[in-house]
Amino acid sequence: MALKGVIERINGSLVVARFEEEPRIGDLVEVGKLGLMGEIVRLSGRNAFIQCYEVTSGMKPGEPVIDTGTPLVAELGPGLMGNIFDGVERSELEMWRMVGPFIKRGVRIAPLNRDKKWYFEPKVEKGEKVVGGDIIGVVQETEYFQHRILIPPHLKGEIVEIEGGEYTVNEPIGTLKTDEGEEVELKMMHTWPVRMPRPYKERLPLTIPLITGQRVIDTFFPVAKGGAAAIPGGFGTGKTVTLQQISKWADADVIIYIGCGERGNEMADVVTHFPELTDPRTGRKLIERTVIVANVSNMPVSAREASIYLGVTLAEYFRDQGYDVAVMADSTSRWAEAMRDLSGRLEEIPAERGFPAYLADRIAGIYERAGRVVTLGSERRVGSVTIIGAVSPPGGDFSEPVTTHTLRFIGAFWALDTELAFRRHFPAINWLRSFSRYIEVASVWWEKYEPRWMQLRARALKILEDASEIEETARIIGEKALPDEQRLTLLIAEMIREGFLIQNAFHEVDRYCDPEKQVKLLKLIMDFHDAVEPLIRRGIPIERIRALKVVSEIMRVKEEKGVEPIEEMRKRMRREVSSLAGEYGVE
Ligand SMILES: Nc1ncnc2c1ncn2[C@@H]1O[C@H](COP(=O)(O)OP(=O)(O)O)[C@@H](O)[C@H]1O
Ligand SMILES: [Mg+2]
Repeated sequence: MALKGVIERINGSLVVARFEEEPRIGDLVEVGKLGLMGEIVRLSGRNAFIQCYEVTSGMKPGEPVIDTGTPLVAELGPGLMGNIFDGVERSELEMWRMVGPFIKRGVRIAPLNRDKKWYFEPKVEKGEKVVGGDIIGVVQETEYFQHRILIPPHLKGEIVEIEGGEYTVNEPIGTLKTDEGEEVELKMMHTWPVRMPRPYKERLPLTIPLITGQRVIDTFFPVAKGGAAAIPGGFGTGKTVTLQQISKWADADVIIYIGCGERGNEMADVVTHFPELTDPRTGRKLIERTVIVANVSNMPVSAREASIYLGVTLAEYFRDQGYDVAVMADSTSRWAEAMRDLSGRLEEIPAERGFPAYLADRIAGIYERAGRVVTLGSERRVGSVTIIGAVSPPGGDFSEPVTTHTLRFIGAFWALDTELAFRRHFPAINWLRSFSRYIEVASVWWEKYEPRWMQLRARALKILEDASEIEETARIIGEKALPDEQRLTLLIAEMIREGFLIQNAFHEVDRYCDPEKQVKLLKLIMDFHDAVEPLIRRGIPIERIRALKVVSEIMRVKEEKGVEPIEEMRKRMRREVSSLAGEYGVE
C-alpha cells in the first residue's frame, strides 16, 4: 500500500510533506500533481523532508505526495552499456527522443529500454542449483561487451526452467524454485538500492596496477586495480582531460564516467564528444564499453548528489560479472556542494566552510566501495572497481575540506598545479606534491619489464627533488654560479620533465605510452646520466654536455612509435659521449 501525504512547505528542491503514517527514510516519493521524483532524506514523526530531483517551481502546498515504498534503486541489466543516464538513471538518450532538448518535468521513463529484445544464451541447465552471483547466461550487448546475467545477490534455489532466445529485460527467461519451494521468475534485469554497497565474498589485496598509458601516473604515482585516486586541481589544470585519457587508455574492461555537472556546456560536450571517441583497445567506439552518468539537463543539484551513488552501483554490478571497472567522477566537489546545499536547506548545523559534519563519512563511503573482490557465486570470479575522483577546490586551495577529507581515503593523489598548466607542462601533475601508496604493489608487477623498477623510479624522483632545491639557489645566485655537478642535476631533471613527464594528450603517438616504452625511456635518460657524470667529474664543462645533439633528441624520442628508436638513441648517445670524452683525453 502506497503511503499518502500532503505538501506542507517548499524550499527550492526541498519539500516538506505530512504523511498519514510515518514513512520510511530513504524511500522514493512522487511529489505534487506532476509526480516529480524525490527521496525522503529526513523524518520528524509523520513529517518527511524530501529531496526533489526535479525543479519544483509552480508546485504548491496541499498537493499530494506518494511514498512508493522503495528506496532509490538502479536497474541493472542489458541496455546499460553505451547509455547516458542522469543522476536518477533516466536515459538522456531516451528523454531526448521523447521530448527533445527541452526538459519536461515528471517524465517517467524506465531506465532500461522495455521494448528492445536481447539474445539470451543460457549457461545453466534445468535442475541446476544456483546461488546469488551465479552467471545463468550471457547477452552480447555490444560487439565488444558480453553482459553476464547474474542471479541477484540474495536469491538461491534450483533452476526449474530456462530457455535461450530473444527477450526484453522484463520478460521471464526462466524460473527458479527457492529452498522454501517458492517459484520465482528469472529476468535479465534486477534492481539494487544505489546507496547500499553490493555484497561480495571476500576482499583481495590490491596486487595489479591499473595501467593508464600516462607516464607520470603509471611510473611515478600508480593506482592499483581496485584502488582509489584523487586528482585535485583548479580550473583549467587538466582534470577532465586526464580523466578522459584514463577512460580511453586504461586497461579496464568497463568505464563508468560520472559527470557531476562541472559546467553545463562541459557536460553537453562529454555527451556529444564521448560517443565519437574510438576505443584504442578494440578499434571500435569507446562508448561500447562505457556508461555515462551525466546531469545534462538543468536538473537541480540534488540529482547530482545521487549520480555518484548510481555510478558506483553500476560499477559494482559489472565488477560482480567478473570485470575490471574504472569509475571516473568529475567532479566530486560538485557532488559535495550538492550535499552542502541540501544540508543548508535542512538547516543542519554546518561544519567547515558550510559543509555538513558528515561530509567526511560520505566521501569515505564512496571511496570504500572501490576494491578488488571475489564476487558472489559458486564459481570463483574476481572483479574490481577502481575509483578516480576529480576535486575542484575553489581557488585551487588544497586545504579546503573536500580535498583534505578525500586525501584520507584514497591511495593515489595526483596534485594538479596551476603553475605547470600555465607553462603548458601537461599533465600538470606536480611530482613533489603527489603520492601513491601502491608503489610496493606496482613494483612487483613492473618487474617483468625492469627488475630494478623501484630503484629506477626512486632515482628519477630524487633527481627531480634535488633539482627543485638547486633551482631555489639558482634563483638567487644564478645558474652559471652553480657547480657543474648541480648543473648536471638540473639538466637531467629537465630531460626527465621534457622527455618523460610531459605527455601531450593530443599527440598521435605520445598520448599513450605502453609500460615497456615507459621503462626504456626513463632508463635511457638515466643511462645518459651515468655516461656523462664521470665526464663532469673529470672537468669537462657542462656546456659541452648540454650541447650534445643527443640531449634534445632524447627529449623527443617519446614521440616516436615503439621502442626501437630508443635503442637506436642509446647507441648514438654512447657514440657522442665517447667522442666528447676522447676530445678531452678521458677514457
Ligand atoms: N595531458 C594534456 N595534454 C595536452 N593538453 C592538456 C592536457 N591536460 C590538459 N590540457 C590542456 O588544458 C586544458 C584544460 O584542461 P581541462 O581538463 O578542461 O581542465 P579542468 O577540467 O581541470 O578544468 C585543455 O583544454 C587542454 O588544452
Ligand atoms: Mg573539467
